[in-house]
Amino acid sequence: MGRKVYKSLPDMSKARNRVDLPLIKAEEILVPERVKNFAKGRTYLIKTFGCQANVRDSEIMAGYLEKAGFCKATDETSASLVIVNTCAVRENAEEKVYGEIGKFKANHTRDKSFVMAVCGCMMQEEKAAEKIVSTYPYVNIVFGTHNISNLLNLIDEHLGRNKDIVDVISYPGDIVENLPSIRLDPYKAYVNIAYGCDKFCTYCIVPYTRGRERSRQKEEIIAECKQLVEEGYQEITLLGQNVNSYGKDFHDGTSFASILEEVAKLGIPRLRFMTSHPWDFDDKMIDIIAKYPNIMHFIHLPVQSGSDDVLRRMGRRYDQAQYLDLVRRIKERIPDCALSTDIIVGFPDETEEDFQATLDVCEKVGYDSAFTFIYSPRKGTPAAAMKDDVDAATKHERFTRLVKVIEKSVTAHAEAMIGKTYKVLVDGPSKKDENLLSGYTESNKLVHFVGPSYLKGKIVEVKINQSHTYSMIGELVDDPLLIMAKEVGRELSNEPLAKAYFEAKRAYEEDESASKLRQQIEDAQKEMVAYANKGDDEGHAKAKKAYLEAKTLYENHPVVKNFETAKEDLEPLLVQVASLINERKE
Ligand code: SAH
Ligand code: SF4
Ligand code: F3S
Repeated sequence: MGRKVYKSLPDMSKARNRVDLPLIKAEEILVPERVKNFAKGRTYLIKTFGCQANVRDSEIMAGYLEKAGFCKATDETSASLVIVNTCAVRENAEEKVYGEIGKFKANHTRDKSFVMAVCGCMMQEEKAAEKIVSTYPYVNIVFGTHNISNLLNLIDEHLGRNKDIVDVISYPGDIVENLPSIRLDPYKAYVNIAYGCDKFCTYCIVPYTRGRERSRQKEEIIAECKQLVEEGYQEITLLGQNVNSYGKDFHDGTSFASILEEVAKLGIPRLRFMTSHPWDFDDKMIDIIAKYPNIMHFIHLPVQSGSDDVLRRMGRRYDQAQYLDLVRRIKERIPDCALSTDIIVGFPDETEEDFQATLDVCEKVGYDSAFTFIYSPRKGTPAAAMKDDVDAATKHERFTRLVKVIEKSVTAHAEAMIGKTYKVLVDGPSKKDENLLSGYTESNKLVHFVGPSYLKGKIVEVKINQSHTYSMIGELVDDPLLIMAKEVGRELSNEPLAKAYFEAKRAYEEDESASKLRQQIEDAQKEMVAYANKGDDEGHAKAKKAYLEAKTLYENHPVVKNFETAKEDLEPLLVQVASLINERKE
């Protein structure tokens, strides 16, 4: 490919800017003619690194591509267009990206029209885009987190000019609504409630790669969640780098607790949220989580460090005592609440004493799970410029010790589950063993058990038999067919036609004049038989007349007519139910 066109490149100082207010855009989705033609018969693949924010972005990009006419590729080698969505949070996340892009050289060699794009947080770092395009000549398009909604135009520009396009914008960021999306999971959905981050923890690149903290309008969030409920989704996770800050930028008293409550009221079976910063986790939030049974009793509450000095230098805005007090308040009101956390080991100049304070917090809280990281300096962040006299070996040794302490509480929680029954949302066949199903409990514990694949997307009761610390082995409490029958029964009783049938049936059974007529018909029929046996034609004719009169009255009786119509109306529904059970079993 010929020359590269650098439309814009990232600039950390612009990325730090938080001055003006975000715009809300909702543009119509227009597919350029050239992209439409190119997409015909071609397939796409998106590789996603990093957090849920990236997963959601990839779903949106898939939405744009499918609107243009691309189909999802079934394997890597045949894909005609590949997007690698990158993460920049730690050095090792970046290393994986290079390996991934390298894999697609063969696609380019085989198919000269192959299009390779790289996007996401890593591209928002200075020099990253230049490095990518100079290392991998077959990368055609580079863009960032702020111009995802411009994806089809970038492809169009690349195709039209026959050039490689680099367009990474650094600015505080706006909100784009009316986004298309192809969700990865038919039962579990992520819903963005806020973008970006204004916390600027000193080690973290996210506020630079994702821009300012900006909340989506409540109406947009509710509309999206409502649709998911209608589509039969079982679980919604509200997403934000710091969900607790939701609505603060509106300056009208809107809070995360209020949106959490409104979404819970929509009736989604499972509601989760992440991530919560301990600093502005208020009691109102705890109350709402405790109040609604469909808000899962699981909170991801990153502590990062247990040392007051390290926390201060990290810019986390809380100390150990405040964090532990928050944990105490949560456990007081939600005793079965599972807690997980993120911990960074080896922050610049972390002392053994600092590290001991982290271990201390872990012992005191007894986390159900934890993500542990070795500090990774991120260029342009304040911590990257801090003096650090701790050597790598010490950091690794601390990391190993931390993992051991974490494992103790994870094991204790897991073993306490043995013999008890939990509700599990079935994800489908287990990744490790396709003969097993897997899913998560309300407290986010992974469970494997034997069962048919048609239970995917159902919430089933599983009795836990065995602990593998990070996952559990259990067994279905109910017979799978019984689970299906119960479900169809539940759905049927809500179906308007079925409701009408049951109401008409009750009215019919309770109506005295109708039952009298039923009796008269029966009696007349008996008489007809008796007269016929006796050979009494006159008597028979009299009885027949009485029979026909009663029958006509009966057939024209409003409750009878109503019941007959309801029965007839129900027929297609019954056919549907039968095929539904069949379909779900397949
Ligand atoms: N907004 C979320 C998640 C941010 S990134 C939050 O505040 O919790 C996820 C985790 O990555 C962080 O919680 C932190 O533990 C870790 N992390 C971020 N920057 C890091 C760095 N430079 N080195 C090591 N770990 C880091
Ligand atoms: Fe990064 Fe801190 Fe923002 Fe989380 S809250 S994204 S750790 S700056
Ligand atoms: Fe990574 Fe960006 Fe998420 S840096 S962790 S993908 S916000």
